[in-house]
Amino acid sequence: MVTTLKPSLALTDITKYYQDGPNRIEVLKSTSLAVGPGEFAAIIGPSGAGKSTLLSIAGTLLSPSSGKIELADTDVTTMPAKDRTKLRLQKVGFIFQNSELIPYLTVKDQLKYVTKLAKRPTSEAEILALLNHLGLSHRLKNFPNQLSGGERQRVAIARAFINNPDLILADEPTASLDSKRGHEVVAMIAQEVHEVQKAAVMVTHDERVLDLVDQVYRIEDGQLKKI
Ligand SMILES: Nc1ncnc2c1ncn2[C@@H]1O[C@H](COP(=O)(O)OP(=O)(O)OP(=O)(O)O)[C@@H](O)[C@H]1O
Ligand SMILES: [Mg+2]
Repeated sequence: MVTTLKPSLALTDITKYYQDGPNRIEVLKSTSLAVGPGEFAAIIGPSGAGKSTLLSIAGTLLSPSSGKIELADTDVTTMPAKDRTKLRLQKVGFIFQNSELIPYLTVKDQLKYVTKLAKRPTSEAEILALLNHLGLSHRLKNFPNQLSGGERQRVAIARAFINNPDLILADEPTASLDSKRGHEVVAMIAQEVHEVQKAAVMVTHDERVLDLVDQVYRIEDGQLKKI
């Protein structure tokens, strides 16, 4: 039996411009991208090229000026904001440059909190298993300021995965880490993507982690090119 898997993320002919006073800044010009389950894609390109803009559009945090966004089977382009927020909480996991953990929650509670937000009942055992898998079982009761940069990013990875999203989006997840820790963190994302068949898109400046991804795109003149 032949099954054709829908991409977990499909961006079609996305354009985005920002209005800056009288000037119109065209950041994305008819950009398309498809990422399937089990696929880890990286986007590289110069500062200001539109990488974060594209990732925010993919995660439905930002609306494009035109074009279509599909997450798995759902066209989210014209979805009402409330439904889009719900879908985002359930289907997308974000990993940011500086972890963006909540300062007053312990490692375990960071994960509990996002499962509550997504209204996804999750057992304590499930949370502990994921933290253990990411090498954090000895840090359950620690607060973010008691962790190293690498540990904080591993908590951010756990938080992105706990709701079992179809799509992981990471914006420069290694920017605050040295090259060894950076490689370890990206290896963990790659492992999760391949083991549990997630789709992931990572924006990075760090060419040393590109050996861990399945596909590299460069963003140039507002368009993505496979390299
Ligand atoms: N809200 C905004 N209003 C006006 N211009 C914006 C806005 N957000 C981003 N831009 C501009 O859009 C362009 C792309 O920004 P973006 O943050 O996507 O770049 P980037 O590739 O992620 O860069 P970096 O590698 O430095 O993070 C930049 O020229 C930026 O100044
Ligand atoms: Mg950016």
